[in-house]
Amino acid sequence: MNDDLNFIFARRSVRRYREGEDVSEELVRDLLEAAMAAPSANCTDPWHFVVVRDRDKLNRIAAALPYGKMLTSAPLGVVVCGDLERAHAGELSYLLQDCSAAIQNLLLAAHALGLGACWLGVHPREDRIEALRTLFCLPSHILPVSAVAVGWPAEIKEARTRYRDEAVHRDVW
Ligand SMILES: Cc1cc2nc3c(=O)[nH]c(=O)nc-3n(C[C@H](O)[C@H](O)[C@H](O)COP(=O)(O)O)c2cc1C
Repeated sequence: MNDDLNFIFARRSVRRYREGEDVSEELVRDLLEAAMAAPSANCTDPWHFVVVRDRDKLNRIAAALPYGKMLTSAPLGVVVCGDLERAHAGELSYLLQDCSAAIQNLLLAAHALGLGACWLGVHPREDRIEALRTLFCLPSHILPVSAVAVGWPAEIKEARTRYRDEAVHRDVW
């Protein structure tokens, strides 16, 4: 692994957070600036971010996401949503690709800032989409794509790649 790329290899899903340590508003701004620097089809930037600090709301998201229980101990959650009216050509696929790029930027920024974060799947599970839609009073053209749990890491994971030679094709399949 190339050392120059270590910050990419060292970004891991962090699901345990140090208790009682908050994430400042300044850092939240940094995370969101990084997210909104992501590539976006035709530069439509269809994303919206619901920043959640309210403990009851974090617990409710956790209740709606079967693999999102770490939100009960995270100081911060970010619900990443896409606006179907802004998406390139009104296409769901562009919205999902743009939001995914923003989420990855947010995760890399969290890691670079010493935070730990984990991507939590929402779309395309209808029950999860509906639960978040209700919880955050989302308008009908706003689609919750994923949530991200963020906190100060209470676990350390090794840097790694999951490189597989057989996933690489040269000039033809
Ligand atoms: C679309 C998507 C949905 C995910 N949903 C969850 C989730 O609900 N809960 C969770 O703990 N991790 C979730 N993850 C994180 C993956 O489990 C994790 O990225 C993968 O195991 C690789 O580990 P790493 O992030 O440490 O490299 C999700 C990742 C993606 C891209």
